[in-house]
Amino acid sequence: MDQIPIHIGIIMDGNGRWAKKRFLPRVFGHVRGVSALKKTIMHCNDIGVKHLTVFAFGRENWQRPNSEVNFLMKLMLKKLNHELSELHAKNARIRFIGDRSRLNKQLLDSIIYAESQTQKNTGLQFNVCLDYSGQYDIVQAVNRIIKEGKHEQINEEILAGYLLTHDQPAPELIIRTSGECRLSNFMLWQSAYSELYFTPLFWPEFSPQELDKAIEWYNNRERRFGQISEQLKEASC
Ligand code: FPP
Repeated sequence: MDQIPIHIGIIMDGNGRWAKKRFLPRVFGHVRGVSALKKTIMHCNDIGVKHLTVFAFGRENWQRPNSEVNFLMKLMLKKLNHELSELHAKNARIRFIGDRSRLNKQLLDSIIYAESQTQKNTGLQFNVCLDYSGQYDIVQAVNRIIKEGKHEQINEEILAGYLLTHDQPAPELIIRTSGECRLSNFMLWQSAYSELYFTPLFWPEFSPQELDKAIEWYNNRERRFGQISEQLKEASC
């Protein structure tokens, strides 16, 4: 029986290329991407993943054509409003991670509402990275430390306490679709010891079976955290 990671991060990449391959407008890829996301959330909930963090919109994504950015923001608003009651009924907690200052008021209001509605839920902790980058997260943490003025020196533990995910464990497994093998500014601090799984599938093609495959792959990794194999074997005896 596979061990289920406590926290899975996903870089949902390839929506545009999925659409292009089918001679469809790019935004069709995002619509299908949301369907893949919903199935993934439900599967994570069913198999007992405790935390799921998805990269929905990076800070660099504002540079896309206005029409695509507007479409994505409207899509997120619509899906958030539409899916909230089901997530809540499943005891899932939803949180948005990133810079909120550039979001439009309607989306921001829905985010605040969804977070407050689900804040006491103890099931799947679902994080959406929106106007997010790993570098942004580290910089906002450092700025808050400076502003508070409580620390003369910091260490890893102190800094981690100021990250946007400070109360959640680091992801053991990060999945990226579309064949790109890089993190693209996703959870840079938190991924220090994550296993990185890359699949050539475009995000709209991702499915619960593919998630199971990634988890199976994860189970065959030896996580050494700087130690050597023999030390791990001794410790598990
Ligand atoms: C990457 O594909 C995907 C995105 C930038 C958007 C992902 C967002 C969603 C699936 C919506 C999430 C919705 C909610 C409510 C959380 P790409 O466009 O970069 O694909 P490409 O690399 O092929 O161009």
